[in-house]
Amino acid sequence: MPQVDPLLGNCSLSELRQRKSVKWREYPPDVLPSFVAEMDFVLAEPIVAAVTAALALGDSGYPHPGQLPDAFAQFAGDRLDWAPETARIYPIPDVMTGVAEVVQAITPPGSGIVVNPPVYPPFRFRFGFYGRRLIDAPLARGADGRYTLDPDAIEAALSEPDAAVYLLCSPHNPTGNVWSRADLAMVADACRRHGAALLVDEIHAPLALPGARFVPFLAIDHEMTQAETTFTFTSATKGWNISGLKCGLAVAGTAAGTRLLEERWEALEPSHLGVLASAAAFTQGLPWLDAVLGQLDENRKLLTGLLAEHLPGVRYAPPQASFLAWLDCRDLGLGDDPAGVFLENGKVALGHGPHFGAEGHGFARLNMGTSPELLEAAVRRMASVL
Ligand SMILES: Cc1ncc(COP(=O)(O)O)c(C=O)c1O
Repeated sequence: MPQVDPLLGNCSLSELRQRKSVKWREYPPDVLPSFVAEMDFVLAEPIVAAVTAALALGDSGYPHPGQLPDAFAQFAGDRLDWAPETARIYPIPDVMTGVAEVVQAITPPGSGIVVNPPVYPPFRFRFGFYGRRLIDAPLARGADGRYTLDPDAIEAALSEPDAAVYLLCSPHNPTGNVWSRADLAMVADACRRHGAALLVDEIHAPLALPGARFVPFLAIDHEMTQAETTFTFTSATKGWNISGLKCGLAVAGTAAGTRLLEERWEALEPSHLGVLASAAAFTQGLPWLDAVLGQLDENRKLLTGLLAEHLPGVRYAPPQASFLAWLDCRDLGLGDDPAGVFLENGKVALGHGPHFGAEGHGFARLNMGTSPELLEAAVRRMASVL
């Protein structure tokens, strides 16, 4: 079995089981967790140094943006071929809070929000709490198991009378799609035609894998990038595995959009330690990120072989970004929610396909942000149910 890069630790199960995050505490110790989007690697050293230095000083108060906007702009320039204006980069507690706050600010109750299922489950339930409703524009699925945005479905969804916002997941969770410039322009054209706001969740962008070219929405040449109701959202939390530190970033398309965020500062305060950790990640965390990208590239290929060997009935298209594998288990005869059977009979916890929408029936989501050894253990446990 190949070794994990030393920067990432060794993913020792006995050490991982000492973690107290939801991944390691949701299920009893006989279950191998592979559900929530946390990775098993140790943290990047510069992040640990930034947070421990702050704690040593008693520097644990309210946040100041400090270097974070500049740090993200530097990362965007170095890695995403994008030069966002730092004045438009606004720290927020997390991506979903940022999206929810903006949705409440720019749409009246009763508005419809267009999403592309199968999609990240909170997209499906969060807005109901605020009296907004979901409008599905499902992705199209090819015979090869690859997904695409469906212009007809998008047109139909945006034509619904209350459609007010398009919430695009880019890269897409759970399919791992990285959208092209043409895909983004198609979405932007549709939003402009229908007068819809466009919110783009780019949280998985730092994890675009070799062979894929992530395009930040605000970097394309399109008038929607200058619209007052266009916002993108990102974070260091997926790329560097720091969701517990609570910090994300909103980038507004216009100065008016930035003011909208600033006015809501009290609802949008990140954690101070998250700000410090994120700035360290974006500026000093690139060697660690590169090690992760190499490991994930290896793991997504390894999974193809593991499935062929142990679970040939499962269909899987390797993701273009991030650490999530969206598994089509419909030929296994395990019903709508195969993850329920894998948990019950195989003692391995995957993401439940139906949580991602009706299009997820018969699917499960596996987390590859771990060592090849634990990835193989997860697949063996899944196979044991058959
Ligand atoms: C697409 C997507 N958006 C948002 C989130 C949650 O991010 P946050 O904790 O910043 O709200 C996740 C977490 O996995 C995600 O996959």
